Amino acid sequence: MKNFKRHLITCALPYANGPVHIGHLAGVYVPADIYVRYLRLKAEDVMWVCGSDEHGVPITLKAKAEGVTPQQIVDKYHEIIKKSFADFGIGFDTYSRTSAKIHHETASEFFKKLYDNNDFVVKTNEQLYDAEANQFLADRYVTGTCPHCHNEGAYGDQCEKCGTSLSAMDLINPKSAITGNVPVLKETKHWYLPLDKYSDFLEKWILEDHKEWKSNVYGQCKSWIKDIGLEARAVTRDLDWGVPVPIEGTEGKVLYVWFDAPIGYISATKEFTPNWEKYWKDPETRLIHFIGKDNIVFHCIIFPAMLKAEGTYNLPDNVPANEFLNLEGDKISTSRNWAVWLHEYLVEFPGKQDVLRYCLTANAPETKDNDFTWKDFQARNNNELVAILGNFVNRTLVLTHKYYKGIVPEVSELKQEDKEILAQIAGMKDRVESSLENFRFREALKEAMSLARLGNKYLADTEPWQVVKTDEERVKEIMYVALQITANLAGLIEPFLPFTADNLLAFLNIEKYSWDLIGKPDLLAAGHQINKASLLFEKIEDSVVDAQVEKLLATKKSNEMANSKAEPQKENINFDDFTKMDIRLGTILEAEKVPKTKKLLKLLIDTGIDKRTVVSGIAEFYQPENIVGKQVTMLVNLAPRNIKGIESQGMILMAQNADGELSFIEPEKAFRNGAVIS
Ligand code: MF3
Ligand code: ZN
Repeated sequence: MKNFKRHLITCALPYANGPVHIGHLAGVYVPADIYVRYLRLKAEDVMWVCGSDEHGVPITLKAKAEGVTPQQIVDKYHEIIKKSFADFGIGFDTYSRTSAKIHHETASEFFKKLYDNNDFVVKTNEQLYDAEANQFLADRYVTGTCPHCHNEGAYGDQCEKCGTSLSAMDLINPKSAITGNVPVLKETKHWYLPLDKYSDFLEKWILEDHKEWKSNVYGQCKSWIKDIGLEARAVTRDLDWGVPVPIEGTEGKVLYVWFDAPIGYISATKEFTPNWEKYWKDPETRLIHFIGKDNIVFHCIIFPAMLKAEGTYNLPDNVPANEFLNLEGDKISTSRNWAVWLHEYLVEFPGKQDVLRYCLTANAPETKDNDFTWKDFQARNNNELVAILGNFVNRTLVLTHKYYKGIVPEVSELKQEDKEILAQIAGMKDRVESSLENFRFREALKEAMSLARLGNKYLADTEPWQVVKTDEERVKEIMYVALQITANLAGLIEPFLPFTADNLLAFLNIEKYSWDLIGKPDLLAAGHQINKASLLFEKIEDSVVDAQVEKLLATKKSNEMANSKAEPQKENINFDDFTKMDIRLGTILEAEKVPKTKKLLKLLIDTGIDKRTVVSGIAEFYQPENIVGKQVTMLVNLAPRNIKGIESQGMILMAQNADGELSFIEPEKAFRNGAVIS
């Protein structure tokens, strides 16, 4: 790889229409954070920028749904997102936002330059329009059937089912997302970036010169350039939320969110430092975009074409996009609330940032989609962080205090076998490094953890707690070696587990190591005093993860309720049919389970007319002892039926949920038993 003087790292700007969840973290922010921490340990010149993406239809739709302004939405989520990143240890140099004045100026200037260069094509054509809402329907403002996979819920910019990028006019049976109306066609004028003109350039730049890109990224680019083919893309929209189109006579038009948002990387840098140009324009700066797979076309095709047209900026040297993380087997979704939200995790698991960072890295969806489960979270914590890393460090520190009052022991020449153990560290460090350079974060973490495994095995093999009874000199050597491994661990895990690394450095009473030092067999000098230590990790109990699974089940249930369609209406009956039914209020006097059945309760009901027995299939939903005294609704003139040998004289009326759950229908006021319902 070419040697660069400095690095500009960007992370996809999250939409400020909701908080950040584990899918965002695993796909984009955690790997980028690991990478940047590594570069900083190497004392490289790094600039890491991010910010909120505050334009686009997801924001305006959310504002409409909540009855507030788009500005209120972005103000709310910008703060939540910014704070949760900071609390999670995601250390951007700057976290900006695209509603900032400097961004509007930067994006306008960029557009203006391309406009003045005649880089755009202007087209007037018919587009979908919602006559009731007085609005053109592009992107997420319109849904319909995908022409490729026939998914009925495709959006005007993309079908999430088959991943195809669409334009609103491609949809079959389009419907307005605002009113549900069928759109009409209306003429409008827009500016297009003629991507077809950049096809040759992109083909050479990516397909020939960047064969080292991850295969999922390279493959998508290849398919865009060679199979799908590049067409002109509209970069303006008829909307009132966004960066206004900076030319005369274009009221009511703004820049397309995917035109302005990536320019947000530039405005964020500009806002942060007057020296911003060296990060963007000096060819000795390496630009890297961390993104999720749904962003590949924008970062590898469209934004580079914009940069190329503008002419003075660097192009990205790599775009390490990840695939998606699912949650408990289902696609993560902000609108369905199917997610583990970062700001909630931070409250529910205080001080456990590194446990989540560890799981998300160990399970990172680097080459294929992956699944996060709470069971795996618990297992990784208990079996890896506690049992391997925490256990090794704890044993080493406790024994050092016990045997030497916390002072690193003096040793003469180390044994050959000890030297060989310590010599392995440098190799592990090299492998961590080369995995990181290739954006293989899972592999890098595994390699870093292998140092803790090595330490654990070393203690198990040498058993200093036994040897101490017979050979105190040998124990000094063992503990010296274990302490060197511990000190190296503090350095090697820093990019992955920064909170743990800080704790460990404090226990060891040392400053952060630079990357150069890691791998050395003598990081801790004999005579160095270490501090009192506590446990690095604690076990996570079943009840804790069970509660999280419960929370998700409740979400699933409320989604099903919200989405389930009512049963179709039955055939009409006449009024006489209805009056034949004698429905009354009654009170449950006694209740007991019908033996050898799962579903049946035998009830004694005071109907106001008499007291009678009814058998009811509600045992899965009600405990007998909880329903005595309840007033219920009952059909009293249903002909008696024999159920499991009991004569049932009537029927309790129950409401039924989509998944079969039953509920009594209670009167809003307690009336006398026998009151007629009609
Ligand atoms: N907001 C977009 C998303 O969440 C990402 C924007 S990245 C940028 O998919 F480059 F446009 F900023
Ligand atoms: Zn589709």
